[in-house]
Amino acid sequence: MIYGVILAGGVGSRMGNREKPKQYINIGDKPIIVHTIEKFCLCSEFEEILLLCPKDWIEYTKGLVKKYVSETEKIKVIEGGETRNETIMNAIAYIEREGELDEDTLIVTHDAVRPFVTYRIIEENIQAARRCGACDTVIPATDTIVESREGSVISDIPNRAVLYQGQTPQSFNAMKLRALYESLTEEEKAVLTDAAKIFVIKGEQVRLVKGENSNIKITYPYDLTVAESLLKGV
Ligand code: CTP
Repeated sequence: MIYGVILAGGVGSRMGNREKPKQYINIGDKPIIVHTIEKFCLCSEFEEILLLCPKDWIEYTKGLVKKYVSETEKIKVIEGGETRNETIMNAIAYIEREGELDEDTLIVTHDAVRPFVTYRIIEENIQAARRCGACDTVIPATDTIVESREGSVISDIPNRAVLYQGQTPQSFNAMKLRALYESLTEEEKAVLTDAAKIFVIKGEQVRLVKGENSNIKITYPYDLTVAESLLKGV
């Protein structure tokens, strides 16, 4: 079975002091997270779509689902974790509690704050995860990436032709992801920036799925302005 896993367990500290976490801020006429849920609802392959959010926002999130989403029976609101990867582990634990976790279970994990994900990207994630057990959505790097190990002078300029920018979704065989994550040391867990790296650290293959420039992550206040423009098709 395949589960949509929408990650909304963060507080959005880089967005600055707001009355609510950034995933609940409106773009256009509805909250960012609602735009994201709508994209996932377009895919009929999902057994359920899990929404993981901070504990104090569970009731609020349930209210949003009721207000904005028509297919509510497929959507489950669950508590997120301390870190993004712990949030993903909570999703897998939920699937296990439901008695649905087996070797073939796939999860399509996605940042709640990437509301411009497309049907094509989600479908290609499902296909790639079915074939390979893990995939990551990327776009070719446009800027030259400069490395500075100590922060004031350049230590390297890697060849841009082999560099990509990671987006989401990232999709995985759920049992394999959990087993690999549990085999990491605390130091290895501490340096993880995303879930695909769990596979990479362990020498496991992760397929690339083509993302879109428009599949932006809303992180800073400026991104809200960009998101409003994208929504208007400007
Ligand atoms: N996320 C999550 N659980 C966490 C932390 C993050 O599900 N414990 C989710 C966020 O809600 C977001 C996505 O992961 O949808 C991408 O993370 P990021 O943009 O870093 O979100 P925040 O952690 O909320 O932002 P910040 O780092 O500015 O606090």
